[in-house]
Formats: sequence, structure tokens, C-alpha cells
Amino acid sequence: MERLIIANWKMNPKNLKAAFVLAGSVKRYLKDVRGVRVVICPPFPYLAVVARQLKHSSLELGAQDASWEPSGPHTGQISLPMLKALGCGFVILGHSELRAQSGETDAMVNRKVHATLKAGLVPIVCVENAVQLIKALRGVPRSSYAKIRVVYEPSWAISTAKGAKPADPKEVRRMVQKLGTIASPAVFLYGGSVSSKNAGAFLKKGIVQGFLVGQASLRPREFANLVKKAIFG
Ligand code: PGA
Repeated sequence: MERLIIANWKMNPKNLKAAFVLAGSVKRYLKDVRGVRVVICPPFPYLAVVARQLKHSSLELGAQDASWEPSGPHTGQISLPMLKALGCGFVILGHSELRAQSGETDAMVNRKVHATLKAGLVPIVCVENAVQLIKALRGVPRSSYAKIRVVYEPSWAISTAKGAKPADPKEVRRMVQKLGTIASPAVFLYGGSVSSKNAGAFLKKGIVQGFLVGQASLRPREFANLVKKAIFG
């Protein structure tokens, strides 16, 4: 069974050099780690430099968003072919911060899911509930579900939210079962204040197959410990 940990650096770190150093530290800490896929999703301007750093390692590269258009007059947008050419294999879609801060709608997420599958990249679809997942997958053939990763990430659990704390594993299990009835055999992940301390509780009982990690992914040693939890429990 695949174990997958996705680092969502969000709008961090503060410059290119820091991104190169951070990717280098993560690579060093995870040098001998096997049995888990680790994907680093830096901000767009750092992708090339992080790709260089991750070369000759088992770490994979992803992006935090993408346009559904392949090219053309779309100021400020980044296309899937551009991301693919940089070495990205994964794209985070429908993150609650984009939904809340940039007006990303379910229809937009859906177009991006279609485009990502068509481009041959893996969509990492973030949802807070079943309705969002149904809308994200509208028109996607069931035969493609196995290529999709679904993250259950309640926005109130994201570490930067006021009073955030990770969701109760029992609640995550209930929600993932519900999402499973919609998108199985997709791989299901959890996101929201995940750390090396609480990761085991979600993995032990097979509630999810991995995580989308924000804050903890910016601290290389902590992130490496979290990844090791995904292997050894
Ligand atoms: P967090 O962020 O791990 O800092 O809670 C997760 C996310 O927003 O993807």
C-alpha cells in the first residue's frame, strides 16, 4: 500500500537560497529512507532550484496549483505543461486557502482535476466535505480515480487557523470512509496540523495512507521524523 507524504511549503521560505538550503536539508535527513513517497511542493519561483536539489534523490516534486489552460493569454497563471517540464509529477488542487483567499470555486477545481489528469500529473485534491469531492470529480471517469489523491483537510485544523488543532482520528476515519464511497480507489490523505507526534494515530489504524503537511514541512528534522513515522508507525 502506498504511503505518501506531501510537503506544502505554501508561500515559504523567504528567498531562493533559503529554498535551496531547505530542500537540501530535507534530502539529507531522508537520504536512506525507503518505503514512502515524499513530494515537495515549493512556491513556483523555487521549483527549478528545488528540482536541481532533489535530483538523484528519491524525493519528488509537486506544485501548489496550476491553470487548466495549457497556454495563452492568462496573465499570472502557470500551466501544467510548464510544471511537467520542470519535473513536477503532482499538483495540489482546491486547497482551502485558495478557495478562501483567491475565490477558487468547485467548478474551477473540477476543470483543474480534468486538466491535470489529461497532462499526466497526479492531482492532489483537497476537500473539507463530500460535496466538494463530488463536485471536484464531476465528469471524471471512474477508471481514473486510482490516479487521484484526495486530502481530507478541514480548514479549522490547519495550523495557521485560530485555535487550530488536528482533527480527531475517529472523525477523520468517518469522513474518509464517506469520501471513499465517492472516490474509491483513490488514495486518501489527511491534512491539518500534522506533526511527528500525532502522525502515528492516523496511520496506525490505516485511517489514511499519508498526509499533506504545512508548517512541519518547513522544519527539516521534524519533517524527517514525520516521514519516518509513516514507515515505522
Ligand atoms: P498545516 O498545513 O500542516 O500547517 O496545518 C496543512 C495545509 O494547509 O496543507
